[in-house]
Amino acid sequence: MNETLTKTAIKIKQAEYSNIGEVDFDNLQFGKHFGDHMFEMEFRNGEWGEPVIKPFGKIEITPALNVMHYGQAVFEGMKAFYVDENTVNIFRPDVHFERFNNSARRMCIPESDYETFISALEELIRLDKKWIPKKPGTAMYIRPVIFASDDYLAARVSDIYSYYIITSPVGAYYAEGFNPVSLTTPNGYVRAVKGGTGEAKTAGNYAASFLPAKKAQQAGYTQVLWLDAIENKYIEEVGTMNIHFLIGDTLITPKLTGSVLPGVTRRSVTALAAEWGYNVEERKISIDEVFEASSNGTLKEVFGSGTAAVISPVGTIEHDGNTIHIGNGKIGDFAQKLFDEITGIQYGKIEDRHNWVHSVEV
Ligand SMILES: Cc1ncc(COP(=O)(O)O)c(C=O)c1O
Repeated sequence: MNETLTKTAIKIKQAEYSNIGEVDFDNLQFGKHFGDHMFEMEFRNGEWGEPVIKPFGKIEITPALNVMHYGQAVFEGMKAFYVDENTVNIFRPDVHFERFNNSARRMCIPESDYETFISALEELIRLDKKWIPKKPGTAMYIRPVIFASDDYLAARVSDIYSYYIITSPVGAYYAEGFNPVSLTTPNGYVRAVKGGTGEAKTAGNYAASFLPAKKAQQAGYTQVLWLDAIENKYIEEVGTMNIHFLIGDTLITPKLTGSVLPGVTRRSVTALAAEWGYNVEERKISIDEVFEASSNGTLKEVFGSGTAAVISPVGTIEHDGNTIHIGNGKIGDFAQKLFDEITGIQYGKIEDRHNWVHSVEV
């Protein structure tokens, strides 16, 4: 934390109009509707200014906006869960915030303070309480973002930044049961390399992954399984998920080598597996090792972890023309147990032994 931090109380301007009546809460699409309020704060003259919560709406920009040319932007993605009439749980906001500032440092974006962040989340949840969906599996997605907002056309660090937090009600990811995903390794493309920006949650990482992801989808796969950029051999992660392999009784999770996004769900998965007595290894794991484990019958489960789906079973992996099938198109027992435990904690149904949940009284 540095001198750029602000500890000013948040000024609130209540929305006079709500379009909540136009939203079909039984058929929510991810990221399509937004809560009535948004948080806004600007960095200028070397410091963060006054934090404000105001009606969600358009912002005025010019085509010279720095971020649109040079991509200096960081964001986060987390969720809040309806527990009862008086309580909403935010899942691990402290760890998301830590990653937000880590990403900011990598992108030369000024850090911000946790106090403002958590007060903004609490206020947004209270103000937009009626936007938090109540059905099982649904949640309020929370998207903090900071981007360079100087107007100039030169490739240099911006002097001005805009910080927003917006919210979006999201439906149950698995409305009709689990759908195992199919993955393919990318032919000739890489997502990130150590020393680059892969471990930061920054806009360009996603833009760069769209073409290989599109090609994978055209070939009939759900997502790309990224391999390391140097040897093209070690497994890194999936589009918006980390990945885990249950081989024998060992949970193997690709190590954070500098090019993998350190997922909050990944961290929760490995902590629970260790508590439950599994051998937990965070290490390099090659695609050949996974294919070998499949052929000798020790590959029990493969699943992704991430805020959106929590746990996403992997049904097939294609690499160099060969395909392995895992778990007969069903979610494995271990992945199911992790899903039940994490979602149980999120919705306040299972005791929060790790202090992962930040409860907000609404
Ligand atoms: C590239 C990438 N990897 C992994 C993850 C999973 O991270 P988390 O569990 O924090 O959502 C995400 C989603 O945020 C992601 O975008």
